[in-house]
Amino acid sequence: MKTELGEAQLLAQIDLDRLPQHIAMIMDGNGRWAKRRRLPRIAGHRAGIRAVRQAVEACARLGVPYLTLYAFSAENWKRPHTEIKLLMDLLREYLKKEIAELNKQNIRLGVIGRISELPKPVQRDLEIALENTRQNTGLRLTLALNYGARAEMVDAVRALAEKLRGNGSLAIDEASLSQHLYTRELPDPDLLIRTSGEMRVSNFLLWQIAYAEIWVTETLWPDFTQNDLFQAIIDYQRRERRYGGLGLG
Ligand code: IPE
Ligand code: IPE
Ligand code: MG
Repeated sequence: MKTELGEAQLLAQIDLDRLPQHIAMIMDGNGRWAKRRRLPRIAGHRAGIRAVRQAVEACARLGVPYLTLYAFSAENWKRPHTEIKLLMDLLREYLKKEIAELNKQNIRLGVIGRISELPKPVQRDLEIALENTRQNTGLRLTLALNYGARAEMVDAVRALAEKLRGNGSLAIDEASLSQHLYTRELPDPDLLIRTSGEMRVSNFLLWQIAYAEIWVTETLWPDFTQNDLFQAIIDYQRRERRYGGLGLG
């Protein structure tokens, strides 16, 4: 049986000196959340914004330096046109409403993905939000939009090839490939969280999660709270990361 611990009890178990430096999240289950309530899928996406606020605030409060949220995948274009349109509208609404709050919490916004393929008004709102939070020095919040890890790797290889044409001595190794990914300014995630119980990574940060600890919860994304995030961090801190070595025995 699951015993529900309160926020103070959870926080007391977190070692602030060993926080994951980068948490990546696959925010899944909005549609199922809505379906259970006999609501349209978009109601689930709308409710998901609340969970985004909670996760962002929890990371900012604790002092986690990097949080990356999978908001729209390169494969999500397969969904009905109306759902895509509503998702884009929600994103624009979030960007407009949230800038003040992000600034208040000293959060800097970033994006990864093929941003130039997003609708022009979305690109414009993104630029404004990026520009208006650029000066912040706290949590680095990255939204993955029209993001696909395979597309990212293709883009990185293309960029490398382009440079090689100009400078034949450029090395192709793990470091140079990493430096050409969209995530070049971010450390690799330490902790990957997926909600709604799905045991897959759905083309998210494939290169970067090579040694991430994976934490999956049955909770659907709109029901995800700060306490869930605290629990994920507690479980993460109990794991032994060996990176192929022998660890501590
Ligand atoms: C995640 O929820 C949000 C996006 C992919 C944009 P889903 O919309 O995938 O919800 P389910 O998986 O259908 O429940
Ligand atoms: C992953 O969720 C993408 C996002 C959370 C944005 P999906 O719902 O698209 O993934 P699959 O289809 O279940 O693999
Ligand atoms: Mg899903």
